[in-house]
Amino acid sequence: MKFAGKIATVFGASSEGGTGWAIAEVLAGHGAHVVVSARSMPGLERLAERIGGTAVRCDVAVEEDVAAKAAFIKERFGHLDIVIVSAGQPVASSVIDSPFEDLLRATAINYFGPFFAIKHMVPLLRAEGSVTVISSLASTNPIEGQVAYGAAKAATNALVQYAAIELGPKGFRVNAVVPGSIETPLLTQFLATAPEIRDTYIKEIPSRRYATALDIANAAVWMASPECFANGTLLHVDGGNYLTRQPYLSELPEGIMSKL
Ligand SMILES: NC(=O)c1ccc[n+]([C@@H]2O[C@H](COP(=O)([O-])OP(=O)(O)OC[C@H]3O[C@@H](n4cnc5c(N)ncnc54)[C@H](OP(=O)(O)O)[C@@H]3O)[C@@H](O)[C@H]2O)c1
Repeated sequence: MKFAGKIATVFGASSEGGTGWAIAEVLAGHGAHVVVSARSMPGLERLAERIGGTAVRCDVAVEEDVAAKAAFIKERFGHLDIVIVSAGQPVASSVIDSPFEDLLRATAINYFGPFFAIKHMVPLLRAEGSVTVISSLASTNPIEGQVAYGAAKAATNALVQYAAIELGPKGFRVNAVVPGSIETPLLTQFLATAPEIRDTYIKEIPSRRYATALDIANAAVWMASPECFANGTLLHVDGGNYLTRQPYLSELPEGIMSKL
């Protein structure tokens, strides 16, 4: 029980079978008390009951929500040891015709969210505390049709590295896991709309399978552990997909990105 007595929090954990949910389960499995948050409560409450944690509503893209969550944790637990920001969402977009609202939505959830989380949670961290953000392969390997999402995640990669140099001397580490496709129930549902694209993607992954939510959770929890000395590291966990090409939109059924 390497996290016995530790307080952890996971942003974006309400979706059963999703990455945030798996991260919370792994942390709790190692003995941490986990404060789970997202915008919708029913899944969160089920998860909190299952792992003996605490559920708190929090939209990570709204700074007041994140500040209120920090105040709640401070009052209830006094401190934090582990912060994991898994909340994030793809937003279909192209360089030349993305409405401002789409850019703002992608930026708010995928970049402002991790920024607010670091800003408000780090002051609660005890010695050896860490922050781990779940980024995306779209941040390092451009995926046509995902510019707003990929650019926001790339900004988050930079944020992670800026935070690492600012917070390292205080004894904290800040890192990112960079997944390729993760086969969550939502991705399974998406692939069911066009089963032929499963192979289009998988043939570009050297390990010839998608990540599971548990693959990403295990990496995030390792990065969050005091046994990990990484700081400012962007860790690709994608079966080697970052080494290969991403399919172009012309290889996929028309309009498929908007179904993500
Ligand atoms: N799935 C993939 O193939 C894939 C690939 C690369 C990277 N990623 C990244 O991995 C992370 C997890 O993705 P996932 O697909 O596994 O998602 P997931 O955990 O299945 O679901 C997303 C979670 O984020 C929460 N969320 C969404 N917007 C939020 C907001 N504004 N504030 C707080 N919580 C919010 C959702 O809950 P509510 O709706 O209740 O708020 C849900 O619990 C994301 O950062 C994603 O960008 C995913």
